[in-house]
Amino acid sequence: MTTSFMQSVSYENGVLKILDQTKIPNLTEFLEITKIEDAWDAIKQLKVRGAPAIGIAAAYGLLLGIKDAPESSFEDFYSVFKKYSDYLATSRPTAVNLFWALKRMEDRARTDKELPVSNLKEALENEAHLIRSEDEDVCRTIGEHALTLIKDGMGILTHCNAGGIATARYGTALAPLYLAKEKGWDIKVFADETRPLLQGARLTAWELMQAGIDVTLITDNMAAMVMQKGWVQAVIVGCDRVAANGDVANKIGTYGVALLAKAHNIPFYVAAPLSTIDLETKTGGDIPIEERDAAEITEGFGKRTAPEGVKVFNPAFDVTPHEYITAIITEKGILSGNYHEELPKLFQ
Ligand code: MRU
Repeated sequence: MTTSFMQSVSYENGVLKILDQTKIPNLTEFLEITKIEDAWDAIKQLKVRGAPAIGIAAAYGLLLGIKDAPESSFEDFYSVFKKYSDYLATSRPTAVNLFWALKRMEDRARTDKELPVSNLKEALENEAHLIRSEDEDVCRTIGEHALTLIKDGMGILTHCNAGGIATARYGTALAPLYLAKEKGWDIKVFADETRPLLQGARLTAWELMQAGIDVTLITDNMAAMVMQKGWVQAVIVGCDRVAANGDVANKIGTYGVALLAKAHNIPFYVAAPLSTIDLETKTGGDIPIEERDAAEITEGFGKRTAPEGVKVFNPAFDVTPHEYITAIITEKGILSGNYHEELPKLFQ
């Protein structure tokens, strides 16, 4: 049986349709966006989130910006294109897929610059659709590779949400779980709640339950205990950026999970499409880490849980050094150590 998925980002007739991930699990509500400012806001506010989905939304969002751009000459068109591309690039700093997708759109614009601008706009729409459809294939392939690392009956812990709604389909870290389900395997998933925005509780638990996958929700500070009890045989997470040396930025708390996995001798796997690998960024220390509003911690989901005026540190991501990563699973295969030499080969 193949799993059915809700398409979290799509574009048709000048309308960007986004599943509002801030409303899940209470409501499955789709936003119909026609203005680039609303696409920027949807990315910033995490209405669309997860590295690949952010890239897809940015490519479609750019189409909204250039819809009415002048068609008199490529130069006139390009100045509007560039202004909006730079604007979307300010929405979130860490997931490299955002910049990757905007660069792909830019490359398409430059390659087809001799076309009449109205045709160039069509070519850019096709490119954005390609970014989406390729991600679907990439995620399925990552799932197939990752499936070779797990076995029927295993317990698997994941952090944040790297599932179908964070990508075009299947997800990255969750892809092997869907494929295992299709094979009839019994996998027991532990989903970290993922403080402070609860992507694990709200999104991963919801997604996996919809697919009929056995999922147990735990708060982040319970991961050590479930590992100590011997309930976890592998950790699989997604990521927002892989640096050239194999260091990986993912949702805040991932580094802690990697340390726990190491302490318990549990393999720690990172699922990463090539669109998330950034060879220009040398090490994890060079990855820009987004810091978000203090209110996400002091009054998350509308309830004050800390004193007014308390000092807050709220990084959205942390960096797991490469030495804690057992393997990085890509659509081109599985890398295990020696990332500095192996990662560039994926692009040859
Ligand atoms: O802040 P978010 O919810 O966008 O963070 C998402 C993550 O950290 C995911 O693990 C990552 O983007 C991979 S999604 C396939």
